[in-house]
Amino acid sequence: MAFPKRYFAIVAVAAAILLYLARTQNYDSWTSEPGGRIPVYSADAAPYTAAIVYLVSVMPGPRSPDRLLQSIPLMQKNIPWQHKWPVLLLHAGMYDTAESQLEFLSRLRDSSEQHGLTPEATEGLLGRIEFITTHHDLPEGIPADGVADNPIWSGEWPAYHHMCAFFSYKIFNHPRIKDLTYYLRLDDDSYVRAPGACFDPFEYMHIHNKSFAFRDDPVDAGWVTEGMWPFVSNYAQNHPEVESTLVHNGWQWPGGRFWPGPSHKFGEGVNFPSFETNFDLVKVSRFRTPEMMEFLHELASDPRRFYWQRWGDAPVRAAEVYMFLDVAEEIHRMCEIPYAHKDRPFEDCECVPLAG
Ligand SMILES: *[C@@H]1O[C@H](CO)[C@@H](O)[C@H](O)[C@H]1NC(C)=O
Ligand SMILES: [Mg+2]
Repeated sequence: MAFPKRYFAIVAVAAAILLYLARTQNYDSWTSEPGGRIPVYSADAAPYTAAIVYLVSVMPGPRSPDRLLQSIPLMQKNIPWQHKWPVLLLHAGMYDTAESQLEFLSRLRDSSEQHGLTPEATEGLLGRIEFITTHHDLPEGIPADGVADNPIWSGEWPAYHHMCAFFSYKIFNHPRIKDLTYYLRLDDDSYVRAPGACFDPFEYMHIHNKSFAFRDDPVDAGWVTEGMWPFVSNYAQNHPEVESTLVHNGWQWPGGRFWPGPSHKFGEGVNFPSFETNFDLVKVSRFRTPEMMEFLHELASDPRRFYWQRWGDAPVRAAEVYMFLDVAEEIHRMCEIPYAHKDRPFEDCECVPLAG
């Protein structure tokens, strides 16, 4: 019986070499990798692609990585990942040099070991970090001293506004993201705070055929969603299929949707539904359908929405989901994953292991 065993070993080694070659050739390197590090992706083939996405800076200049250095190891350690997906760090230039990347990776190595990751797990994680330069420009018509034009909320101008615009629609055209099956966005203050998840979130999406998962859905305040009710209402009136999807999903309008008269501002001051996007798990193709793209184009056509009214990505995500997805079929509250935003733990629920 020695012969078949040795034969098997030779075949296995040959297969491993072929797999390695195939992967090396397939990697489409559009971002520079200082030091020639080649990201190593999942060895076992998954029937989909995915990435974890952090927007680590939106303005030029440095930003403290302290929270990110906690968030990444906790995400790695406390989720039973079935595959090894890249961790995309979208930054506005702060990791453009090899030195800054190596310094970050060295600190990530330390914090991963402090969080109890094995040396192998730590090196694997480091090998999957991708630094991706992503710039955010003020749209035409929005002056750089936007504060002088009195946006509704001038805090963190314009970084916060860039962030909201990015996650509301630009992300679906990002070259590193648009062709993925799924992404999971986390913020640097998003913490997978404990073990307890009994599945890999991407596997959950795949097996249950879901298109969107979130962790909480509070309303967003009326004063930062000014104009959003009429915007969605007008869009639905002009797109009957959107109107019927909203009806199907049980979308609730504020009173007086069809009251006539210019003095009436429909939905003024009324809170808007939202999905907290510090945990935002998206099946990208469902946000790149022609119907969704048409809506996103319309959304982007007046930059005052994001830059002056300070529309947030959380209520916009709720509008997108209710206007274009089947809420009962396609979305999931992923409370199985123990999670906290900043120091606020979210309510968990029982985790039912995936079949198979
Ligand atoms: C999976 O979900 C999509 C919508 O995202 C739907 O069109 C498709 O029919 C579903 N497939 C199955 C097998 O249920
Ligand atoms: Mg946050």
